[in-house]
Amino acid sequence: MNKFSTKDTLLTSVQSPIENSGNKVTVVGVGAVGMACAFSILTKGVSNDIALVDCVADKLQGEMLDLQHGSGFIENARIVASTDYAVTAGSRICIVTAGVRQREGESRLDLVQRNADIMKQIIPQLVKYSPNAILLIVSNPVDILTHIAWKISGLPKTRVIGSGTNLDSSRFRFLMSQKLGIAPTSCHGWIIGEHGDSSGKTHNGNKIAVWSGANVAGVRLQALNPSLGSKNDSEGWGELHKKVVDGAYEVIKLKGYTSWAIGLSVSALCKAILKNTRTVHAVSVLVEGFHDVKEEVFLSLPAVLGENGLTDVIIQPLEDSEKAKLQKSAQIMSEVLKGVKL
Ligand SMILES: NC(=O)c1ccc[n+]([C@@H]2O[C@H](COP(=O)([O-])OP(=O)(O)OC[C@H]3O[C@@H](n4cnc5c(N)ncnc54)[C@H](O)[C@@H]3O)[C@@H](O)[C@H]2O)c1
Repeated sequence: MNKFSTKDTLLTSVQSPIENSGNKVTVVGVGAVGMACAFSILTKGVSNDIALVDCVADKLQGEMLDLQHGSGFIENARIVASTDYAVTAGSRICIVTAGVRQREGESRLDLVQRNADIMKQIIPQLVKYSPNAILLIVSNPVDILTHIAWKISGLPKTRVIGSGTNLDSSRFRFLMSQKLGIAPTSCHGWIIGEHGDSSGKTHNGNKIAVWSGANVAGVRLQALNPSLGSKNDSEGWGELHKKVVDGAYEVIKLKGYTSWAIGLSVSALCKAILKNTRTVHAVSVLVEGFHDVKEEVFLSLPAVLGENGLTDVIIQPLEDSEKAKLQKSAQIMSEVLKGVKL
């Protein structure tokens, strides 16, 4: 006896819908950062196909339901979640935001090791289910963990990218915009190098503001103010760099974590990849051989992103002191990596 089905009565099937959206994005880690990434990707129309993974099942289900309940405001969103990585199968991008925080009295190296151990759990699973995906690492220390993810994954260097100083560059442009009274998108300034004080030895000293390139409509600010960003600069542009360096610490002190800006920054990187925009972003890439860096490490440089990941790196004409910082950062990072057991 046939059972009545409202669905079958309503819909006369002509063909099956395509299951694969072609723009699936996985987010591993549904903390403040992971959820801000997922939310930005969905609401900015970058992808409508999201898989969430975390090791805490209840929180994961709660975050999934909360997002699903907003589906009425997003075009045909497919939001799935599981502690089982099978749910991530066929992703074009896998974003990793899972990580643990520093324990009291814990050394940076021990923290790096604990987060490296988490990468050892996550990365092989992602590669197993999405062998053609691009890995986008956000967890800190991002430059170190991107290197570790690249090593563990066995993927080409073009398909493992760290969110790097994309966020720092956005902070810098925001601050430029405040000083000049024009939109951040019309302020061109780059922060390159190290995203964080990954080794505990640099305290962001190697987060480099490229003052020589800061411009609006092609007008270099340094041509107008030769002391731009230096100690002798009576206009105090150097304060912008300090605020970029302290930016995350300030937000964390005030609200406990950072989320919205990193979410927007990561969604911009996903857009570049999924829509093959070939836009230039400051992201963490293998820098060996660029700016005379000798070590096999990841640091941020302006890079062109498209659907096959990283295609080109832009070599800016850096001042000697900026190059020296990049090289120093690479040496420290290489030392830290030597202490990590893979
Ligand atoms: N690169 C950047 O610009 C940037 C900016 C902000 C934060 N971050 C980093 O992003 C990371 C996440 O920050 P947050 O505030 O969301 O932290 P959080 O503690 O809120 O979330 C981390 C999540 O990871 C999950 N997790 C831990 N181990 C896991 C594992 N083995 N498998 C799956 N999930 C696991 C936890 O359950 C938790 O839900 C941190 O490392 C943080 O430093 C990076």
